[in-house]
Amino acid sequence: MRSACPVQISGVGCHVPERLLTNQDLEKMVDTSDEWILQRTGIATRHILDPGKATSDMAVEAIKALCRSTGMEPQEIEVLIVATVTPDMYFPATACLVQDKLGISRTWGFDLSAACCGFVYAVSAGVAFVASGMHRRVVVVGADSMSRIIDYQDRNTCVLFGDGAGAVLLEPAVQEENSFVDAHHEIDGSGGPSLCMPAGGSLMPPSCETVKQRLHYVKQEGQPVFKFATRKMEEASRIVLERNHLSPDDLRLLIPHQANARIIRGTAERLGLREDQVILNLHKYGNTTAATIPLAIRDALSDNRLVKGDVVLLASVGAGFTVGTALLRWAY
Ligand code: ACO
Repeated sequence: MRSACPVQISGVGCHVPERLLTNQDLEKMVDTSDEWILQRTGIATRHILDPGKATSDMAVEAIKALCRSTGMEPQEIEVLIVATVTPDMYFPATACLVQDKLGISRTWGFDLSAACCGFVYAVSAGVAFVASGMHRRVVVVGADSMSRIIDYQDRNTCVLFGDGAGAVLLEPAVQEENSFVDAHHEIDGSGGPSLCMPAGGSLMPPSCETVKQRLHYVKQEGQPVFKFATRKMEEASRIVLERNHLSPDDLRLLIPHQANARIIRGTAERLGLREDQVILNLHKYGNTTAATIPLAIRDALSDNRLVKGDVVLLASVGAGFTVGTALLRWAY
């Protein structure tokens, strides 16, 4: 996938709301325990968005943090792609709401819906814009307010998710060798029923009945999702590595979607990765869907686990099913 114009990630900025939801809080809400949640998922706390705020507000804060870390002015953003499954509303797109809240002009953008793979897919789209020469500055945001679509009476799902946002800047690479290398993505719609929000769309519009049946919340069959995620995260990682004559041993870091520590550890084991080659930060945030990977990149940078020239693999599996990987050499 080497392009005429190599592309780099030039910076990252993130935002999580202040309010915390701990395992102890959840013990008071449903029949669960701190011990079960930690053992089965690895999650300890999640951040929850205040009432009256929305996904666009977190996206705006993430972009402001990105601007602080890169020195870019919001006005310099040419394209804004917001990956989310929890838009402020059906339409207008969250990208338009974010543009307006930033008070910027002469930018364009759109939302991208691919659940947990949203960020990786949006990065691929952004890389294509820059690689083709069509644009020089693309901001990709992964942002989700999962607390808005979670049923806090359902212990199978409510312990898993949190809210957050992360943004990256894509630009022409300063050094060709430190840039995006390749990506491998797949979708498999046969897995749709295993993880979805059944009502509210054109198939089942909102009604008293859909509300009464709690169909506007995330429904999940945990085990098929778990099995698919562990198998496909390894398979897609191997495909993109082998296509580029690399082995898992060549990776400095696997930055996986953060859904369940057991999925991540299982994938790492299958790939033969050491613990220091894998980023695991979901104990702090839970599964923030499109935001997990930028949050993990930010934490890897601040822990000095990611430096210029490192070979990095982003890998994600999520609702759809969607599968996404992106291979790059870190640029700064
Ligand atoms: N607290 C206590 N017990 C629970 C809880 C809870 N919060 N949730 C479920 N249980 C119970 C179940 O009711 C079941 O009880 P039973 O045996 O009496 O019927 C028992 O625990 C085992 O349930 P399983 O579903 O088999 O538990 P499992 O070990 O598979 O863990 C989990 C469930 C954590 C949901 C797991 O399947 C999982 O992580 N799946 C992947 C889901 C995911 O990450 N989705 C996010 C989006 S997709 C993605 O990002 C990859």
